[in-house]
Amino acid sequence: MIKKIRVDQLRPGMFIHDLNCGWLDHPFLSNSFHVGDLASVEKIVRHGIRELYIDTARGDDVHNAPTQHEIEAALDEQFEHIAQAAAAPPAHVPLRTEALRARRLRGEANRIVLNLMHDVRLGRQIEIEHAEPMVSNIVDSIFANRDALLPILRLKRHDEYTFQHCVSVAALLAAFARHLGLSREIARELGLGGLLHDIGKARIAENILNKPGKLDDKEFARMRCHVDEGLEVLRNSKRISDIALQVTAEHHERCDGSGYPQAMDKNALSLYGKMAAIVDVYDAITSNRVYHKGIPPTLALRKLLEWSNHHFDAALVQSFIRAVGIYPSGSLVALNNDCLAVVTEQHEDDLLKPMLCVFFNTSRRAYIEPYMLDLSAQDSIKITAYENPETWQIDPYRWLQA
Ligand SMILES: [Fe+2]
Repeated sequence: MIKKIRVDQLRPGMFIHDLNCGWLDHPFLSNSFHVGDLASVEKIVRHGIRELYIDTARGDDVHNAPTQHEIEAALDEQFEHIAQAAAAPPAHVPLRTEALRARRLRGEANRIVLNLMHDVRLGRQIEIEHAEPMVSNIVDSIFANRDALLPILRLKRHDEYTFQHCVSVAALLAAFARHLGLSREIARELGLGGLLHDIGKARIAENILNKPGKLDDKEFARMRCHVDEGLEVLRNSKRISDIALQVTAEHHERCDGSGYPQAMDKNALSLYGKMAAIVDVYDAITSNRVYHKGIPPTLALRKLLEWSNHHFDAALVQSFIRAVGIYPSGSLVALNNDCLAVVTEQHEDDLLKPMLCVFFNTSRRAYIEPYMLDLSAQDSIKITAYENPETWQIDPYRWLQA
């Protein structure tokens, strides 16, 4: 049986089923292993892991620990509550119109971040004014209709992850700001912070940055320096706001003090830093990277909710879920009519009933003539589960803005 335990309950003789820290670039070779000695337990504690899953069929048990099934049921209940909470302002530009601008924006934004990183690598001072019009365009697109830009930014090439992730974090922070009712001006500062939050990675050697395997302890320590390196770059440039600096400084901090570089706790962290931490992890774990596959967005949101017990601000995680949707646009979902569909657009007042493009029949394992379906306009068809495109070897993005 799979059970969830606190790290202080972990003992040699147990079998770890899942370290439960997908957001952490940890040095363990696997997420799943037999605990041989106390040194392994101490190493796990040292890396800020607070709760993890054990397999009682393969190692010692902890009586009274909740089962994975019980944890999943509690998360289902929380998701129901989140779906019913207050709605965000509706989109005011049709998706099809905004989609054209979004595709162009993605290419331009990627180029700008790549150039900024190139300047840092060559030791030049960055010119933030080159990025500001782009950030305004990203914020305008998100405020017009966030379902155009957000899903296409999840698509990343392994070797281009570092700068594509920055663009994605900028757009997600803008969407988060919009949902929280923050002004466009603050959304722009947050977006600029998102675009620049990992700029310090330009000073990390390529062989560490894009290593196709686990980092060793020394490489791991070097990678963590990207926060302070980034702050140094930004402080040398004029015109940088406190908000953008907070996003950069705090995006790897955690509410329980287990983050880096300052190990700040919840009370010391700024609102913008706490927002950045959530967004950074969401984008990282939903994206394909050199050494691991991205997980489906809905699963990532469930994980964030679970980790908000310790690492993230729970109320902000719930707001973020409402900002992107229970089934974020671009998600592959299964329906109760034996079909698969891609989520194309959210209904702000009912996040469980988004707009879909239905394109695959699961019982015949065959593509069908794609058609649009508004789940909120009928009662018979419902989403039964989120699906992993890997399982079906399907690329849902082909039908995203069909
Ligand atoms: Fe980072």
